[in-house]
Amino acid sequence: MLDKKYIIKADNICKNFHDQNGPINILQNIDFYINASEIVVIMGASGSGKSTLLHILGLLDTASSGQLIINDLDTSILSENQKCNLRNKNLGFIYQSHNLLSELSVVDNVAMPLIVRRYRYDHARVEANLIINLIGLNSKQNSMIYNLSGGERQRVAIARSIITKPDCILADEPTGNLDKKNAYKVFDLFVKLKNELNSSFIIVTHDFELMSIADRKFIMKNGGLLRI
Ligand SMILES: Nc1ncnc2c1ncn2[C@@H]1O[C@H](COP(=O)(O)OP(=O)(O)OP(=O)(O)O)[C@@H](O)[C@H]1O
Ligand SMILES: [Mg+2]
Repeated sequence: MLDKKYIIKADNICKNFHDQNGPINILQNIDFYINASEIVVIMGASGSGKSTLLHILGLLDTASSGQLIINDLDTSILSENQKCNLRNKNLGFIYQSHNLLSELSVVDNVAMPLIVRRYRYDHARVEANLIINLIGLNSKQNSMIYNLSGGERQRVAIARSIITKPDCILADEPTGNLDKKNAYKVFDLFVKLKNELNSSFIIVTHDFELMSIADRKFIMKNGGLLRI
């Protein structure tokens, strides 16, 4: 059997914070990997360390110890600039708070990651509109963000994170603000991207229904990841 290619591989990851009572070990000796075209769902109680782990895996934070390999690169030897490039080229993020630019239209928000990469504006808008159709917001492409509902904003944030076709999308509560119907649209979109673009997803959630699309599922408990 051929070896599967890891997109992200983490070995022995620990993360400690310090509060007024001294150090707290939030993550303890976590081993984790994700392959191309795979959906991994992580659940766990509030405060158990899910977002902390996601931020470390996505190079938004650093582990206190352990090794993190992304696309065969040992991230410990990369400069901040190289990490930034790796993040921009290979990873996509859907944040707990979605950080859209509220004074811009839907299409301009979704096109933004391509504009940052110096795509021509008209080309970036064409690509953005394709993704906006995928998430079912075609009638809103020219609406301003401040005129959208919470769930619509969430879908715009998802469109923005996938427009660069990253290898792995890290999603923190991606359906947290959505009703059932729109949550299912997002599930379908994730599965479609997995099947058509070989994208992989690490999804942190409290939504049990997301378990249905997972290839592997974990609970975060006592600083560790428990496969379920
Ligand atoms: N910079 C920090 N300094 C100190 N403690 C922190 C810091 N960041 C996070 N923590 C603590 O680490 C713990 C884990 O936080 P984290 O945000 O990863 O939880 P979570 O599992 O994502 O929770 P939720 O489901 O509520 O989003 C929390 O107790 C939090 O207070
Ligand atoms: Mg969190």
